Amino acid sequence: MANPYRLPRTVLPRRYTLTLTPDLVAATFTGAVDIEVDVGEATLDVVLNAVELEIEAAWVTVGATGHDAVVTLDPDTERVTLTLAEPIPAGPAVVSLRYRGTLNDKLRGFYRSTFTDDAGVERVIATTQFEATDARRAFPCWDEPDLKARFTIALEIDDDLHAVSNGTIVADEVLDGQRRVRFAETMTMSTYLVAFIVGPLDVTEPLVVAGIPLRVFCPPGKLHLTDFGLEVAEYSLTYLADYFDLPYPGDSMDLIAIPDFAFGAMENLGCVTFRETLLLVDPDHATRGELQNIVDVIAHELAHMWFGDLVTMRWWNGIWLNEAFATFMELKVTDAFRPEWDRWASFGLARSTAFDTDALHATRPIEYPVVSPADAEGMFDVLTYEKGAAVVRMLEQYLGEDDFRAGIRKYMANHQYDNTETTDLWDAIEEATGEPVRRIMDSWIFQGGHPIVSIQASDDGRVLHVAQERFQYLRDEHDDTRWAIPLQLRYALESGEVATAIALLDDETLDIELPGPVAWVVANADGHGFYRVRTSARLRAALVAEAQTMLSDVERYGLVDDTWASVLAGTTTVEDFLTLADGFRQEPDVSVWRRLLGGLEQIDRLVDGDARASFQGRVRALVGPALERIGWEERAGDTDRDHELRGALIGAMANLGADPDARARAAELFRQICADSKSVEANVAAAVVRVTAATAGPAEIDAILEKFRDSDTPQEEVRFLYALAEVRDPVQMARVLDLAMTPAVRTQNAPFLVGSCIANRDNGAQAWKLVHERWDEMNERFPSNSIVRMLSGIRSVSDPALAADIEAFTAEHPVPQAKQILLQHLERMRVSVRLREREAPRLRSVP
Ligand code: BES
Ligand code: ZN
Repeated sequence: MANPYRLPRTVLPRRYTLTLTPDLVAATFTGAVDIEVDVGEATLDVVLNAVELEIEAAWVTVGATGHDAVVTLDPDTERVTLTLAEPIPAGPAVVSLRYRGTLNDKLRGFYRSTFTDDAGVERVIATTQFEATDARRAFPCWDEPDLKARFTIALEIDDDLHAVSNGTIVADEVLDGQRRVRFAETMTMSTYLVAFIVGPLDVTEPLVVAGIPLRVFCPPGKLHLTDFGLEVAEYSLTYLADYFDLPYPGDSMDLIAIPDFAFGAMENLGCVTFRETLLLVDPDHATRGELQNIVDVIAHELAHMWFGDLVTMRWWNGIWLNEAFATFMELKVTDAFRPEWDRWASFGLARSTAFDTDALHATRPIEYPVVSPADAEGMFDVLTYEKGAAVVRMLEQYLGEDDFRAGIRKYMANHQYDNTETTDLWDAIEEATGEPVRRIMDSWIFQGGHPIVSIQASDDGRVLHVAQERFQYLRDEHDDTRWAIPLQLRYALESGEVATAIALLDDETLDIELPGPVAWVVANADGHGFYRVRTSARLRAALVAEAQTMLSDVERYGLVDDTWASVLAGTTTVEDFLTLADGFRQEPDVSVWRRLLGGLEQIDRLVDGDARASFQGRVRALVGPALERIGWEERAGDTDRDHELRGALIGAMANLGADPDARARAAELFRQICADSKSVEANVAAAVVRVTAATAGPAEIDAILEKFRDSDTPQEEVRFLYALAEVRDPVQMARVLDLAMTPAVRTQNAPFLVGSCIANRDNGAQAWKLVHERWDEMNERFPSNSIVRMLSGIRSVSDPALAADIEAFTAEHPVPQAKQILLQHLERMRVSVRLREREAPRLRSVP
């Protein structure tokens, strides 16, 4: 094995006994680890992972005899080598290390999270985040996913604190001035799933679900925000145990809200950690989107308890499947939990973000070889999560939900407590269904990009000519990539009869014969396919005419989304998109609206002066009637999606449409919110805050900042914070950007705020200047994974001068942990610049 990041397999861990003693005030910890190992053949050295740990003693015990070891650390490969004076023999041994470390502020490894308590005192929580390769920052270990072992963890803590880890507490002993809390031994699992948390926390009473005690931990004073999370967790555990046909593999389930958290949440076995916004909520005062995020995330992490924790990828190249499958399951659970949310329709929006990156030359195959930890870090993106989940969904729908699930159950039963390759899953499903699953899926995961399927009818309308080619925004002359496409069509004959057809489009073309002349055809029925669609002008006109009567929400969404993609590719004009949009005045679905409004927002960036005024008039003509229909006030019988739609339309009317009445009404509601946040329905309130921020002067910014500081819930806090990215007044934007770099904004949030400011239509250049000037400081302070997310703001930059500056700066300031994602952002920015070049002159001449 030439890979310097892979450990030798001579010595393998079986059981870790780990004691940690954190000092929350000094931000340090000491650790003691004894690892029962199997020595495969006699060896002079033992190699494992450790980084940024100070090792004070190390020895290996064989039988009753301890052998002292010389310790060598290699910071580059993050390894420690223990060298013995004479070889230890094959057989069992115990490797022991005593060490110290720092509770860092980088939100990885064993780190420090802080909050201010009611008395105004800063309190500290010591907590962990190990995926992908940071367990080695907390204890020396064989830190690779296939080197599974059991863990017995003990924490030595102050009396007034709580300790949480993967298992239940089996002993709580008094030490002088402290306590030692010991946890039950875990199942056999990977190091990246170990977790421990110590701090001043509140905890709910356990809710027993199928024998498993379920609890939520949170910073003090937030217990009233835990009910919804508990309900979702209970529902998810029940759903998932049934789906996988296996009981939950742990002995307890704790969900912990952490004030500083680099990711959204983390699937540590039985000890799942979350950002506060994704766990703690008052459901009566949250937007539908905020609630959906919470259900999604809890379901996602709990799905990992089986898919990921119990059955684990052999190496990090398999991380995409881990995440894609958990995302797929999250959608299924959320859809079952709240059918009226129509989760698969809103997944269209997420799928679009994957299309949007996958249409670039700089896209990547979903699965690729992973050598270093940085390679694995680069895998956490929309292609892994959204494209990955979309292709799994496409497969499920092609095979049928029951047959697909039979394959999953077989896979889980065969591989529990073990590690797998991606192909093991396809093989299990292939065995259960008899379909060529591996061939189909290989074409989607080992090559980047996706196809556009074009459909034409023969002259007599009785044959559909179907063809595939690669879809790209900036097109190559030649690209002969082909996919095995599970096609699902729905069509109507001129006779009025509607039928569906399923076919595997393996080759470049396929002819489908119909029983009569075709009237219209939906080439991606129910929108499950990960492909774009283009139909002949005649078929398209027929489809557009039927959109509001014959197409489902997801299908109308696809029609709009495919059209917008063709605008970006330069094959359709903005004017044609606007004409299509005009036909959606009666549109009832919020996801379809969001897609329309997303396109309109991009168009708004291309117009100025009279052209902008004329565009705003068009927006009002489209949005106005819809807003009038749904009204500003809650109506009896409104669904959650009605509430969401109302918020979206208010925002669009006031911001994109610049409608004076809507702005005045929003200003009035903002005053109500300032007096009492709860007096305005959450979806409307969220829209109103953004509208206010957009037009804000100093007084409104003061008011938003005050609400941000004094917010009642985590959702409200970020609602006020992120709204600041909408500010149009440059002087106020300067205040926002200054604020982002102060401790008032947590480092887990600041990169997202700055990123949205870069995407601000009027002040993007100012925000970019901040990145330029304070790049080193940002890299020092912000979590490593968040830097490239901050840079995603450049994707919508279309000003050529700013784009040139961004190109030059990023050429000299690489992001080694996410090289490919940065290349994608840059290419996507070029797509925006080209769009402006093509369209701005045309739009300027609009009357
Ligand atoms: N395993 C991931 C968290 C993670 C991501 C750890 C990247 C290390 C590197 C977790 O299951 C996850 O996917 N979290 C998501 C939220 C989820 C609902 C999409 C996240 O953190 O964004
Ligand atoms: Zn995940």
